[in-house]
Amino acid sequence: MFESFCAQITSAKKRLNFEARMSIKTYTEECIKLPLNKILNGDCITIMDSLPAESIDLIFADPPYNLQLKGELHRPDHSKVDAVDNAWDQFDSFKTYDNFTDSWLTAARRILKPNGAIWVIGSYHNIFRVGASLQNKGFWILNDVIWRKSNPMPNFRGKRLTNAHETMIWASKSEGAKYTFNYEALKALNEGIQMRSDWVLPICNGNERLKNTKGEKAHPTQKPESLLHRILVGATNPDDVVLDPFFGTGTTGAVAKMLGREFIGIEKEQSYIEVAENRIKQIKKFDKEVLEVSTSKRSEPRVPFGQIIERGMLSPGEQLWSLNGRHKAKVRADGTLIGDDIKGSIHQVGAALEGAPSCNGWTYWGFRRDGKMVPIDILRQQIRSEVTL
Ligand SMILES: C[S@@+](CC[C@H](N)C(=O)[O-])C[C@H]1O[C@@H](n2cnc3c(N)ncnc32)[C@H](O)[C@@H]1O
Repeated sequence: MFESFCAQITSAKKRLNFEARMSIKTYTEECIKLPLNKILNGDCITIMDSLPAESIDLIFADPPYNLQLKGELHRPDHSKVDAVDNAWDQFDSFKTYDNFTDSWLTAARRILKPNGAIWVIGSYHNIFRVGASLQNKGFWILNDVIWRKSNPMPNFRGKRLTNAHETMIWASKSEGAKYTFNYEALKALNEGIQMRSDWVLPICNGNERLKNTKGEKAHPTQKPESLLHRILVGATNPDDVVLDPFFGTGTTGAVAKMLGREFIGIEKEQSYIEVAENRIKQIKKFDKEVLEVSTSKRSEPRVPFGQIIERGMLSPGEQLWSLNGRHKAKVRADGTLIGDDIKGSIHQVGAALEGAPSCNGWTYWGFRRDGKMVPIDILRQQIRSEVTL
């Protein structure tokens, strides 16, 4: 009986979550017709300006670095280093780069949902300029994350430190916005320890590194999928829309597809688009059941114990037992308990009876049904399953 009661609650919860999610997705698609799971060819500012306002959940941007490289770079064995010397990374001056940054961030901010967020990755060449522009536009910086490369390229000239990291800025659209943060999921990824802001991950190498027909790197700055995996698991939910205005080889799209997120890519070089399309075509989405991530208990809606009484799930006068079998108390009409002359909330009475400084009443108390002890938390879960998502 108790098992079937629990099974019913679980199945109702799954159905409600699924239906609510589907209807939000259908509504969004019908109303605004986003070019989902497409790569758009052109300048990202013009294209973002053509998209509906407040329609994107997360932007991941890996903009040009403005490396300002002077001349060729060689290894000690005289082989040429494959540096980022492409036209798309060339700007006449800091002023030109700043104007470009201001323009694409303005366009990005308009299309972000009020509770949306942005991640921008860069190196010391550009990230401080991007950071200032983000703050000037009203974005609210949540963290800067150091991506520490476990296998960085050495400093061949030996004139400076090995440049072994890049910086990512994570910012919400504005101060106080309710951005997505799957705290528990990131903690689970980190074997139960709170995720820190320094991430040690290798640069993109081996089979993951895409090659052109001549066997050369298809793109000089392809990012590792591990980086995007962590960002998308931590800062989006399944079916969220993730936009990348500097799509390159489509790392963001590939990981978004795997994780059951929708993506929109923008890229101005047709040759990279072909590489990205080919890559994403071969990606298989993970099964729905493995895409659910650990959620934070703090993000679940608060259910007062009084609601359990108001809704007749427990009646005034009904007896509760501590799950350790040591104490009992009676439910009162106002959602408080009385036991051994102690009156108060489920938490207060539990704490007083145990002589403890605090007690979580939801996990402390149970009630009897069909001869079995049932934790009262089951009733709270039932109410939550009706209101979540
Ligand atoms: C740093 S790379 C991004 C690499 C990508 N994250 C990946 O993993 O492959 C920047 C990309 O932005 C593109 N790009 C530069 N300026 C652009 C613009 N104004 N609009 C659209 N794409 C642009 C470049 O062609 C380049 O592929």
